Amino acid sequence: MKRTFVLLLVVSLLSACSYIPFSSPKESLPMTLTQASFGKTTDGQEITQYTLTNAGITAKVIDYGAILTELHVPDAKGNVADVVLGFDNVKQYETESPYFGATTGRVANRIAKGKFTLDGKEYTLATNNAPNHLHGGIVGFNKKIWKAETLKTIEGPAVKFSYTSPDGEEGYPGNLAVEVTYTLTKDAELRVDYKATTDKATPINLTHHTYFNLAGQGNGTILKHELELTADHYTPVDATLIPTGNIAKVEGTVFDFRRPAPIGGRIHLLKGDAATKDPGGYDLNYVLNNQTGNVALAAKLHDPSTGRIMEIWTDEPGIQFYTGNFLDGSLTGKAGKVYQKHFGLCLETQHYPDSINQPKFPSTVLKPGETYTQTCVHKFYTER
Ligand code: GLA
Repeated sequence: MKRTFVLLLVVSLLSACSYIPFSSPKESLPMTLTQASFGKTTDGQEITQYTLTNAGITAKVIDYGAILTELHVPDAKGNVADVVLGFDNVKQYETESPYFGATTGRVANRIAKGKFTLDGKEYTLATNNAPNHLHGGIVGFNKKIWKAETLKTIEGPAVKFSYTSPDGEEGYPGNLAVEVTYTLTKDAELRVDYKATTDKATPINLTHHTYFNLAGQGNGTILKHELELTADHYTPVDATLIPTGNIAKVEGTVFDFRRPAPIGGRIHLLKGDAATKDPGGYDLNYVLNNQTGNVALAAKLHDPSTGRIMEIWTDEPGIQFYTGNFLDGSLTGKAGKVYQKHFGLCLETQHYPDSINQPKFPSTVLKPGETYTQTCVHKFYTER
């Protein structure tokens, strides 16, 4: 009894101090952390790619945009494939990326008409997704060079990216110090931990914008993937994807994924509209059932063709489900793969779109003295 208590105490103390020297309880599992050049930006800045391996998975991240560029995961037969869309050079991330693998902020998703009022002052942001503001503006966090620190933690290799967004950047108030840490754990999880502090009240809504394809990047659409979302509600939107403010039930709608269902099963009902440049497909925020602020299961994605399964666990109140509707074959990604419509899907854990203008939604305002945190876990395994 006493020994168990001491052991538990040691384990919890170890996990309380975040960064401890490398030591795997399962010595047989190779854990590595290496770095190499990823080339230079157009203005000549050197970009570094960090390669993390653990539990049979390999993740690669770069200090440009704190982007996840590759994620190699075994399937049910042990065949490994890269399950995320992306590019193999910085230039394409700079010029044509639809946020592949990126850390988006200061406010991910949309702010209606690029305007909000905070503490009696009106702020105007870029309307880079006319008529709205999207993913932090013209030069969002996905286009910044982050400071990187490699860490060897008890759970596995990690890279901590830091960036301080100056007061007024992209029109947002306050100097905002942000940290994003990618950890590849011994339990086959890619965990993203966020932290931020500010010196003036500011809206903040960070997310991870990877496009997943569990059959392997470039290997067809995600329409046969089965999805389950722990969400009974969603936020209906107008034609410009701004929430109306209502919280609606998914029951009886094409948005119902409370039980696992193939993504392509009902997607044809979301036809889109050429007149409003709506390409059709899923692009909406779900209100997760878990509103406790503790990490809980939000989504489960399964590719029957390979047996790969990914679970997403989060402490955020919402998740944006986007089926790569704007992909149209005009982008050539890694290994020369051409990305057609629905070749990848995003499950972005975050607060609801336009929260800063929606008093009924959970608040996205961070005040001086407070610390913003978020944890998002991507857990991989295969069906038995
Ligand atoms: C988000 C949005 C989509 C789209 C993509 C980027 O997921 O919800 O509408 O803008 O980013 O192409």
